[in-house]
Amino acid sequence: MQRSLRHALREASRIASRRADSPQRTGTDELQKWARAHLGGRRLVLVSNREPWSHHRAADGSITAVRNAGGLTVSLDALAGAVGAAWVAHGSGSAARETADAEGRLPCPPDQPRYTLRRIWLDETDHTLFYAGAANSMLWPLCHVVFVRPRFDADAWERYREVNRRYAEAAIEEVGPGDGMVWLQDYHLALAARTLRERRPDLGLALFWHIPWPSPEVFRVLPWRSELLEGMLANDVLGFHIRGHALNFLQCVADTLEARVDFERMAIDRQGHRTWVRAVPIGVPAVEIGDLADAPSTRAAEQAWRERLGIGTAKVILGVDRLDYTKGVPQRLKAFGRLLERHPHWVGRAVFVQVGVPSRIGLPEYQAVQRQVRWEAARLQRRFPRREGQSVVLLEDSLDFRDIVPLYRLADVCAVTPLHDGMNLVAKEYVAACTDGEGALVLSPFAGASRELERAHLASPFDIDALAEAYRAALEDPAADRRTRMADLRETVLRRTVHDWAIEFLDLWQRLALRTSRSDPNPGGAG
Ligand code: UDP
Ligand code: G6P
Repeated sequence: MQRSLRHALREASRIASRRADSPQRTGTDELQKWARAHLGGRRLVLVSNREPWSHHRAADGSITAVRNAGGLTVSLDALAGAVGAAWVAHGSGSAARETADAEGRLPCPPDQPRYTLRRIWLDETDHTLFYAGAANSMLWPLCHVVFVRPRFDADAWERYREVNRRYAEAAIEEVGPGDGMVWLQDYHLALAARTLRERRPDLGLALFWHIPWPSPEVFRVLPWRSELLEGMLANDVLGFHIRGHALNFLQCVADTLEARVDFERMAIDRQGHRTWVRAVPIGVPAVEIGDLADAPSTRAAEQAWRERLGIGTAKVILGVDRLDYTKGVPQRLKAFGRLLERHPHWVGRAVFVQVGVPSRIGLPEYQAVQRQVRWEAARLQRRFPRREGQSVVLLEDSLDFRDIVPLYRLADVCAVTPLHDGMNLVAKEYVAACTDGEGALVLSPFAGASRELERAHLASPFDIDALAEAYRAALEDPAADRRTRMADLRETVLRRTVHDWAIEFLDLWQRLALRTSRSDPNPGGAG
């Protein structure tokens, strides 16, 4: 590379990282100010199936509060705290009832209460039919196109209807008699707006779909597709992470229902009600993650991980996921093996650390992926032993975020390789934690995050050779190129934090729906 070009690249990288690290980023304070100025006296109620915090009783009788892994709850925790929302979710831990009051309410987060969690109770049949059945054996595989066949079951669908009704009723109780906005989250709650609209037509209603939305060819196999879409269209606004998913949704409605679908304005009119459809990509609390990454306690924890995992001077490639068949973890490990075969100078000098949080373990597909990952890790370990420690470390625990950030710091490369993913927050969190501008991201083009993080090393998990090559490039890139890439990625992640996402969505919701849907005869003029 010519000297002048190299100099220009270095300069660009320096400027970008300075811009990216400037303190003018949207954080909790800005979100709080925005909420005070714009929500007025309106009550905001979030509703999701998974609760942000669960309480568990240990064998010695003590109770611990655990922050649940998963992009949805992790990101909304920041929002709920900033605006003092109420949050309705299923009480899932063994000490759920005794840590809540008689109505199921408790202040959250447990150490620094800033919002109210309202737990609702699901029994075993609800769990089997609603959660494991309709949500995770039907809608999850339908929306993630990874060739796992959805299982359709009428009893499960009936229970899905019924549990959605219960969620809607709890949300109505939390709004109280005044003005309110109910923000439903994800594929567990596609029908809740129907009940909410019937009982409280005055409320603002929105749903954010955190997972992909499939093309009409895939969607049309769902036996209850009309009912699902009708339920969703009771909302004023529907949010997706990327435009492709929003467009898929519009097309599915056009193919399935009698409705006027306006692709230009991204709006649907049906039975006198308008629903706006928007792509608003979620972010992460980048400023807070950066501060945590720079804290002395995190540096100490990074060193502790290094020693505990026997890393020595080896380079670290890191994966952090729930063990889900959509995440491409077996493929990621196979590609690590391919890297070591093809480029043996990395044998003993690169370690793969995979955090694999057990997830939905009652379902056979999840048991299968867990077995596969264990088998692959053990195989690589046998083939490529290291004197100082393991070459593949599998941590099958749900880690607290304060333990994940030191791992992000430790990692020379983060591998985010889903076969299909709505967004993927780990990719953005890793970048946010790389405050020194060092580090490299290998990213699947099938994660929503790849639309924004274009400067990552993009490689398909369906192509093991290409993925192995992406690891090699990420490990061997000249330092200046690596820093320029990371500076660009940081600029992107810091420009759009989770607080920006929340403000953008709530603002859009107010402008588009609350103002227009019930009074303006020509709502198409907005937005
Ligand atoms: N996470 C966590 N503990 C863990 C593993 C993951 O708190 O042991 C968090 C992680 O930091 C991220 C979220 O879980 O915020 C995972 O979100 P992502 O969008 O990557 O995937 P999802 O699980 O939502 O499909
Ligand atoms: C994804 C889904 C969330 C879900 C999370 C964890 O992020 O979009 O809705 O909460 O996975 O899955 P779980 O089944 O444990 O709630």
